[in-house]
Amino acid sequence: MTVSALGTRVERQPLARYTTVGVGGEAEIWFVETLDGLHEAVQAPYRIIGAGSNLVIHDSGVPERVIRLSGPLAKADLTPDPGLSDPVNGLIVTGWVGGGTPLPGLLRKLQALGWSNLEGTVGIPAQVGGAVWMNAGTRFGEMFDGLHTLEIVTPQGVRHITPDDLNWGYRNSDLPRNHIVSRVRLKLQQSTPEEVQARMTHADDARKGQPKMKTPGCAFKNPGGVSAGMLIDRAGLKGEQIGQARIAPEHGNFIVNLGGATAADVLGLLRLIRGRLAPALDVPLELEYEIWPEEAAADLR
Ligand code: FAD
Ligand code: EPU
Repeated sequence: MTVSALGTRVERQPLARYTTVGVGGEAEIWFVETLDGLHEAVQAPYRIIGAGSNLVIHDSGVPERVIRLSGPLAKADLTPDPGLSDPVNGLIVTGWVGGGTPLPGLLRKLQALGWSNLEGTVGIPAQVGGAVWMNAGTRFGEMFDGLHTLEIVTPQGVRHITPDDLNWGYRNSDLPRNHIVSRVRLKLQQSTPEEVQARMTHADDARKGQPKMKTPGCAFKNPGGVSAGMLIDRAGLKGEQIGQARIAPEHGNFIVNLGGATAADVLGLLRLIRGRLAPALDVPLELEYEIWPEEAAADLR
């Protein structure tokens, strides 16, 4: 372990520890806790990692430093901002929520407060910054339903933007790569804990068929609103296995790690699916997973 000039902990570690599928070689990880620390960290080639729940990282790792938001940048200040909130109309605009805050724990707090708008994202094992960057969601709602302000860090500095500044959509925030979502203010609507819980339960019910093993979630975006999982299922590909990676028998769009899977095993399955479905589709399936480094799977883009 080393410490940077501004006190950031820097450690070389396997990225497999920081991805939900549990694959990925080594990189230098910067555990950044402050905006000054972020400014320092982005002065050399970098990547930003959240909960690693949409990443397949090559077995040889990545050469860039990998930033992980920690400490205060992974905590949420849910105090309503008096200047921005409107209690008469039940509008709550929160204090700053760090981009490294785990989304599931945040949703539990919002439910207890009876604050609505983000409950459709229940069950997504992301950090706030990663969920914003992808505009993660389900058919019951998405991250941009509850965003007021985004604080963005790049090598050029820090700036504040609103969702209206972005052309966001399905699984896409429109934020350029490596624009770090350091913090956000949430925009929520006063409801009751019971109502928020009921909507969370309803959204969570749609996950009952998803596998419980190590996975980076859905591999491909749904083409034109059709379930990619259903297409993969109909093509008879569920259960196909390469090395220790398998197309989940429960849901065709999930690839799971049976134990010692490598990135190469996962990429092999992605190529198998794309190739097998290509003749039936006008446009090839678009990857939802992100592959690091990108050159490892240029053919899948
Ligand atoms: P990572 O996977 O770490 O990174 C993904 C991308 O976000 C990378 O480009 C990374 O650089 C960028 N990023 C991360 N943090 C930041 C930041 N602070 N600022 C800027 N960019 C950043 N997704 C859905 O949309 N809906 C679902 O229902 C869903 N279900 C899932 C279920 C399971 C079991 C799993 C494992 C995944 C699921 N996912 C789902 C996929 C995944 O959770 C989302 O894509 C999520 O947005 C990824 O967030 P993350 O924090 O893990 O980001
Ligand atoms: N289906 C099959 N076979 C399968 C998978 C699905 O026939 O193997 C059928 C289901 O029976 C259902 C339909 O396809 O009739 C839709 O399935 P599901 O409800 O699972 O939704 P999905 O469109 O496959 C999307 C998201 C998930 C999200 C769920 C629930 C995408 C790519 N996937 O899946 O998001 O959790 O809805 O809202 O948009 C993710 O993005 O990583 C992810 C997991």
